[in-house]
Amino acid sequence: MTGEECIVEVKGLHTRFGSHVVHEDINLCVHHGEVLGLVGGSGSGKTVLMRQMLGLDAPAAGEVRICGLPLRSHNPGELRQIRTRCGVLFQKGALFSALNVYDNIALPMRELRTLDEDMIRRLVMVKLKMVEIEPKHVNKMPAELSGGMIKRIALARAMALDPELLFLDEPTAGLDPELSDAFVQLIQTIRRETTLTIVMATHDLDTLVALSDRIAVLADQHIVALGSLRDVLHTDHPFITNFFHGDRGKRVLENNLDNL
Ligand SMILES: Nc1ncnc2c1ncn2[C@@H]1O[C@H](COP(=O)(O)OP(=O)(O)OP(=O)(O)O)[C@@H](O)[C@H]1O
Ligand SMILES: [Mg+2]
Repeated sequence: MTGEECIVEVKGLHTRFGSHVVHEDINLCVHHGEVLGLVGGSGSGKTVLMRQMLGLDAPAAGEVRICGLPLRSHNPGELRQIRTRCGVLFQKGALFSALNVYDNIALPMRELRTLDEDMIRRLVMVKLKMVEIEPKHVNKMPAELSGGMIKRIALARAMALDPELLFLDEPTAGLDPELSDAFVQLIQTIRRETTLTIVMATHDLDTLVALSDRIAVLADQHIVALGSLRDVLHTDHPFITNFFHGDRGKRVLENNLDNL
């Protein structure tokens, strides 16, 4: 299912905010059809890197190519076109708080300006079914939903336009283990049914191990490891030692290493 073709290519990327250097010479190829897990300490630059891959933030130097085309060379219209092929579940503000469930999912469809409301209604219902949310919830506001429902509905919105490329930023943060497992299973089901490339930032080792084909570790402004879980585990770096070889890490890995 995974190929060597880069759907996203990051070359020589540098990021700084004032004098604060976040990334230095980041190089990364996201293969078509894979799930690339992105890990790193808080503030290591995972969210910013994903925003740059989407063209929402510009790097200080270097470039991002989507399907071989440099983001920088696109005009705003073309950028919008590219973004319709990408779905995003943001870390913060996963849903618009002023819009109900229906309007949150319908928003990207309405922005296309090519679908009538009948078609949008049908598509919203298909997406809700996909994330196993009952139609009776469509008029609820985000404040009335549980954390697990918000994540599912945000996923429905991210999948609204059937993206080829999906960015998940901490998709299971704040969910209890049961809901987190259910979310992971949902992503696995969607992956079986569609050809989807996923870039996912997560602090949750269970989610990381369950979903990632490859893992990129961001630390000290660089990608310090990139490869399979096994490859990453064999890399000597303090972040990797803390993250993967602590008590919790050992437990997760003991349960999973046989499956790798
Ligand atoms: N718009 C901005 N202006 C100034 N600094 C920023 C901005 N956005 C991000 N930063 C800084 O860049 C660094 C990387 O932020 P980022 O949100 O990418 O971290 P992260 O790896 O996603 O962290 P977390 O695991 O907590 O989500 C942080 O130090 C953050 O303060
Ligand atoms: Mg983040």
